Amino acid sequence: MKKIEIAGGKPLSGNLKIQGAKNSVLPILAGAMLNAGKTVIHNCPDLSDVHSAFKILRNLGCDVYFSDNTVTVNSENINCSVIPSNLMRETRSSVMFLGSIISRCDEACISAPGGCNIGERPIDLHIKAFRELGIDITETDEYIYCKLTGEVLGGDITLSFPSVGATENIMLLTAKSNNVTTISNAAMEPEIIDLQNFLNAMGANISGAGTDTITIHGVERFKKDIEYTVIPDRIAAATYLCAVAGTGGKITLENVIPEHIDTVISILRKMGCQVLQYDDRVTLISGGKLKAIAGIETLPYPGFPTDAQAPIMAAFCKTKGTAIFIENLFEGRFKHIAELKKMGADIVQFKNTAAVSGVKRLRGAEVIATDLRCGAALVIAGLMAKGKTTVLSAEYIDRGYESMVEDLRSLGARIL
Ligand code: UD1
Repeated sequence: MKKIEIAGGKPLSGNLKIQGAKNSVLPILAGAMLNAGKTVIHNCPDLSDVHSAFKILRNLGCDVYFSDNTVTVNSENINCSVIPSNLMRETRSSVMFLGSIISRCDEACISAPGGCNIGERPIDLHIKAFRELGIDITETDEYIYCKLTGEVLGGDITLSFPSVGATENIMLLTAKSNNVTTISNAAMEPEIIDLQNFLNAMGANISGAGTDTITIHGVERFKKDIEYTVIPDRIAAATYLCAVAGTGGKITLENVIPEHIDTVISILRKMGCQVLQYDDRVTLISGGKLKAIAGIETLPYPGFPTDAQAPIMAAFCKTKGTAIFIENLFEGRFKHIAELKKMGADIVQFKNTAAVSGVKRLRGAEVIATDLRCGAALVIAGLMAKGKTTVLSAEYIDRGYESMVEDLRSLGARIL
């Protein structure tokens, strides 16, 4: 088990270059097997979830070479349509391969996906949409078998909820087909636009990403060799802004798209931080003494991102006043609350609502990361606390942050 030991209570200051987006590169890696050729992806973050995706690609028969944040995938020789359960369990995004495998092999077999422990994460929307698109699906207790007997049908697929993963899987399945598919109530996250741009660079004909209606004009074939650069990670950016908001200090983030973190920036401003936005940079200055605002409610993009809820809650722990948090996306995404309370935070939770009342100081404690964003929140709280904090199960953090410890040290954090 990995642990991070922090001697907190020090303001942070400096510049950080933000990594490529985890949630973009994972579906893009699934898409890299569609063209039966060579795909070069730049700005690929070096994360354990990304390495799990490499393992899946290799298991399917791809050559994968990764160096200096560039990955080259050669998918000419796909010879397998099965993702074994040990690989499925490593990351939730294993399910993203379903559409691509069916597109290449006319069949696929996967087991239930794993990933962070943040509550029920069903894939019923993926399955329903795939059935509507003509895929025969048999589900057993352990496996999901998918078979394409005719052609991918196309038509209008209406999602009952704008699921990011289901939207991406449908795009991956239908990009190569003889028909036109429309996704209504599609997810609008920036990572969906990134997937559209990647697939179009490969020769697909997709439009509408970033709105709630996406149209996929199926194409017959893709370009063999393509090169693509992934967008910056808006959640990593939001996390480091929350850290400096909480500790006080000044940070400049480089390689960001400020509009992707508009909702986070607007809340940090209301809390009393000064935030300056440039083309691909953001500077935040915080006096460390923050005001609470009425509350935060997580929502699909462009609402406040669920992935930034835990990190910003940590920053709220020392504000003046009480803020109400409502988590609408995942029912298990409040696990950081019990850990923050061990550090002296004053938080009362009822179901998906939590009241966070600011305390004068947080104190160092031994706490456990139960998932990726919980881990990030505990590190932030540790940086804000007086005394030593030990974050156990810190390997969760490697799923989404390329080099959090080194990055924070470069800002002056005392990480032992
Ligand atoms: C993606 C992100 C994750 C982020 C989430 C919401 C990746 C790799 N992960 O996850 O970091 O927190 O979007 O912004 O991009 N749902 C169903 N049935 C389904 C699919 C989803 O009920 O078939 C529910 C989920 O349980 C959840 C909600 O819909 O409550 C949102 O899920 P979804 O948007 O699909 O998230 P992911 O793609 O899993």
